Amino acid sequence: MFSKGKYEVKHEKLASESESNPSSVKRSCLPKIRPFTLCLVCVVIYISMVVVPKIQEENGKKLQNPKPIGPNHQNKPSDLPKPTTTKDGPNGSPPSKVCRIKVENGPLIKVNRHKTYVIGSYVEHRATKEIKSIAIMQRHEPVTYYCVMCCDGVNISTQAKYSIHSDHYNFDYGTADIMCKFSHTCSAPTHVAITANNLAESITSFQTIENRVIPKSLRLNFTVCISVMFDYNKVLDLIEAMEMFTLLGVQKVVIYKTSCDSATQKVLDYYVKSGFLELIPWTVEKHIKVSMGWQKEISPGELHYHGQIPALNDCVFRYMYQSRYVALQDIDELILPLNVRTWTELLPELEKMHGNDVGFEFENNVFPFTAETQNKYEQDAWKNVPGTNILKYVDRIPNDPYRFNNIKVIVNPRLVLEATVHGLLKTVNGHNTVRVRNDIARMYHLKNCEYPRGTHLIRDKRLWSYADDLIKAVSKVLQDCGFT
Ligand SMILES: *[C@@H]1O[C@H](CO)[C@@H](O)[C@H](O)[C@H]1NC(C)=O
Ligand SMILES: *[C@@H]1O[C@H](CO)[C@@H](O)[C@H](O)[C@H]1NC(C)=O
Repeated sequence: MFSKGKYEVKHEKLASESESNPSSVKRSCLPKIRPFTLCLVCVVIYISMVVVPKIQEENGKKLQNPKPIGPNHQNKPSDLPKPTTTKDGPNGSPPSKVCRIKVENGPLIKVNRHKTYVIGSYVEHRATKEIKSIAIMQRHEPVTYYCVMCCDGVNISTQAKYSIHSDHYNFDYGTADIMCKFSHTCSAPTHVAITANNLAESITSFQTIENRVIPKSLRLNFTVCISVMFDYNKVLDLIEAMEMFTLLGVQKVVIYKTSCDSATQKVLDYYVKSGFLELIPWTVEKHIKVSMGWQKEISPGELHYHGQIPALNDCVFRYMYQSRYVALQDIDELILPLNVRTWTELLPELEKMHGNDVGFEFENNVFPFTAETQNKYEQDAWKNVPGTNILKYVDRIPNDPYRFNNIKVIVNPRLVLEATVHGLLKTVNGHNTVRVRNDIARMYHLKNCEYPRGTHLIRDKRLWSYADDLIKAVSKVLQDCGFT
């Protein structure tokens, strides 16, 4: 499976610029790095990604027998206090306290005094059943982690192991999975807290463990995971994207949001209210100096691009048993099928071609807002709304077939062990994503960027086949939100 070609592509993926910067500053449409610089970078990255994490993983590997902790651990079962508040609170709302500690679901929970932040905790059902907490971790800090689980009103502690994802791009912090086996004394924990180094360090809150039961059926076909939104103000682009997702057959969008202006917030609130959007507060900047990019030397910081990678991984696990597929992409990207209209029709076609045990990758095509505009679908009513009418841009920059072009993926989340910006790092069956032929579907990336003069742009009017429906839908939302 890991042919040489695939392996090289994997490395070249490191060269692709993160594309989700919403800043209005015009950037180049093309990747910036030269192949030979890339090689050097690769060697360094390889050592720090593969060799160092291995060693760190070994450190966290030794498992210890689970044992109850706290004042009750020597009591016989009959002496145990009544389970405190494991049941739902009033009106069926989630309990506010379990095992006498408050419930705090995050998504950023600091581990004691350590440079570790837990995003979300999930039951891993696929190999050995265990609890997997997705975290952001300082990679050089040696820590032994423990899970404290609340089990029928009793604290049970067990030593964790952890592994750091290889796509940390050499930043001090990386994405990590902290894993704890279920213990025989606790087969159905409901809440977990991660603690470090020694058990005496007391925990101050519990996080709800999600995905405890696998539902009988998936309630969603497609979920789009958008990581991350910061300094965002392009109301029109946002509504266009949301309505295009609907037209493509998407039922849920998840946005990890750091910051946006009040007009954007109004739109987000509108979609949250309709149930189409889940908004997850992404406050990583309060704790960690995030980088604006993926190259430490160019964009200094302690964590790759606003913590995009841990957010994506959290989204995959959050929707693992809710959604048939998740799309890991940005708000200015549209994966459009060329021969059918929706993802609902496209995905069965792809599964027929490639099987249903792989993910699918779609090649990036940039439609620069600096190109000539086509005014067929000009909307006077939209003119005062901040953002861009994407229907005016139907010229794309030709992709260099000899150069690696960015991709984004649509995957069955149940195949994914570790996700990254442009694909997957680890899957349950070792199969990586397959490239979808660009006469079947491709990614339309509509953004403000500069391209070399003299570039012969290619006219591509695929987006226009959605124009009538899109205009109707966007106009309605603009009206409902009071923009027009
Ligand atoms: C669980 O541990 C925490 C922190 O050590 C403690 O505050 C709490 O009372 C314990 N709960 C129970 C039920 O023992
Ligand atoms: C989900 O996809 C199936 C086809 O695979 C389709 O019949 C169904 O209508 C879709 N559900 C929604 C809500 O779009």
